[in-house]
Amino acid sequence: MKIAIMGAMVEEITPLLEKFKEYKVVEFAENKFYTVQYKNIDVTIAYSKIGKVNAALTASVLINIFGAQKLLFSGVAGAVDENLHIGDLIAAEGLVQHDLDITAFGHPYGFVPESKILIKADEELLKISKDTAKTLNLTLKSGIIATGDQFICDADKKEWIKKTFGANAIEMEGASVAFVCDALNVPFFILRAISDAADAKAGFDFDEFLRSSSKISADFIVSMLDNLEG
Ligand code: ADE
Repeated sequence: MKIAIMGAMVEEITPLLEKFKEYKVVEFAENKFYTVQYKNIDVTIAYSKIGKVNAALTASVLINIFGAQKLLFSGVAGAVDENLHIGDLIAAEGLVQHDLDITAFGHPYGFVPESKILIKADEELLKISKDTAKTLNLTLKSGIIATGDQFICDADKKEWIKKTFGANAIEMEGASVAFVCDALNVPFFILRAISDAADAKAGFDFDEFLRSSSKISADFIVSMLDNLEG
């Protein structure tokens, strides 16, 4: 089986590369793709660079060029739900684009014609993640992840995203990866560990916790691989 593991920033995939150690590097579309054999799974790892366009490009390459049959995303997010704290894990049940706005034409936020607001993650991968959490005795929350090309560090904006989309966490890539996978019929799973609370001190907290939260997320993804059938 061919599985892709994607992050947005180099810090988000570094714990994976350190874990797998021996990988080959393939360059394509101005990016690097790290390929490794893990048990009987062909794994391709890449970080997209920040934002929805970069993430959509990398997800497409992982699927169309590297043949990924499932895509797992590992990284960090800002908490919107006050029950999520730094280092907590959240798996996306569904993803929305909070910055997509053609409300001027009477459409709801996050919607464009011939598309949908919410993309649902793969049920089977969500089930595997819940089983993995149980085995590891870890708490894994799940909910709505809102994505946009903005680093949110403002309590009012955060509240608006929460109220408008029922979001639990925010980040800058998940929904675009979800849209690509959904359109190409590739099961996907988006995991994030909280790095900040998307408030006035989010920039400081993000820098402080990016590495530790990235590792929490990446370690979980590796454990999930052990529960995927090759
Ligand atoms: N990723 C991690 N924290 C974030 C935030 N506050 N806003 C957007 N993306 C993030």
